[in-house]
Amino acid sequence: MFFKRKSNINLDNIPTHIAMIMDGNGRWAKKRGLSRSVGHRYGIENLKTVVELNLKFKIKFLTVYAFSIENWKRPKDEIETLFELMKQFFDSYGQELSDKGVRIKVIGTRENLSNDILEIIDKVENMTKDNDDLTLLIAFNYGFSEEILTCVKKITHKCLNNELTISDINNELIENNLYTSGVPNVDLLIRTSGEQRLSNFLLLQCSYAELYFTEVYWPDFKEQEYLAALNEYQKRQRRFGGL
Ligand code: FPP
Repeated sequence: MFFKRKSNINLDNIPTHIAMIMDGNGRWAKKRGLSRSVGHRYGIENLKTVVELNLKFKIKFLTVYAFSIENWKRPKDEIETLFELMKQFFDSYGQELSDKGVRIKVIGTRENLSNDILEIIDKVENMTKDNDDLTLLIAFNYGFSEEILTCVKKITHKCLNNELTISDINNELIENNLYTSGVPNVDLLIRTSGEQRLSNFLLLQCSYAELYFTEVYWPDFKEQEYLAALNEYQKRQRRFGGL
């Protein structure tokens, strides 16, 4: 059979939606005698590299785990760094992403986010809303347990207001009331840094995702690693419960 190929990748079998747990910034920095904040800085630089790779391979959806609700347990200065990086990412890179056809969506709860963060999120989401080459979903202040709780509350509210009856509740309705409404389920989930768990990330959306774990720390997850993950994905047989 003839396949169009780019770097040994079969372009006819590209995942539609890739999700990434960008883990290991802290350990990457520690190994080099640097602070965790510096590790996150390199981490965000690497996010730019990875976005470019996703554009190159025409991936339609990329979701990255930037800040989990559980991350509020971290020291205050580290949290401040992550928030500052998020702002800088949008300020310095938002326009460029928009020009490249990237739509940005921030998923997670808006609770506990300051007005300046909320404003910049709204600005970048609005600026990129008509783009559709790649949708970059940034999970920020995100946790699946909160996402499903919010979904249940929204549906219950509609039932109590007689906008819905219990018999209207089905899988599609649930999907449509998640933060990822309209986004297809994850095909490939990548986690860097050797940890092998999902950490409350897109649990329903990953129901049939292929899982890929690599020892490499996030700041080192570059083209070669990315290609290795795509290669591995293309070797998997996806049966979705069938034969
Ligand atoms: C995990 O590494 C990484 C995070 C908790 C944050 C990921 C954030 C970035 C890559 C940069 C920020 C990006 C945006 C868009 C705001 P870790 O700190 O848990 O590393 P460790 O497990 O080695 O300690």
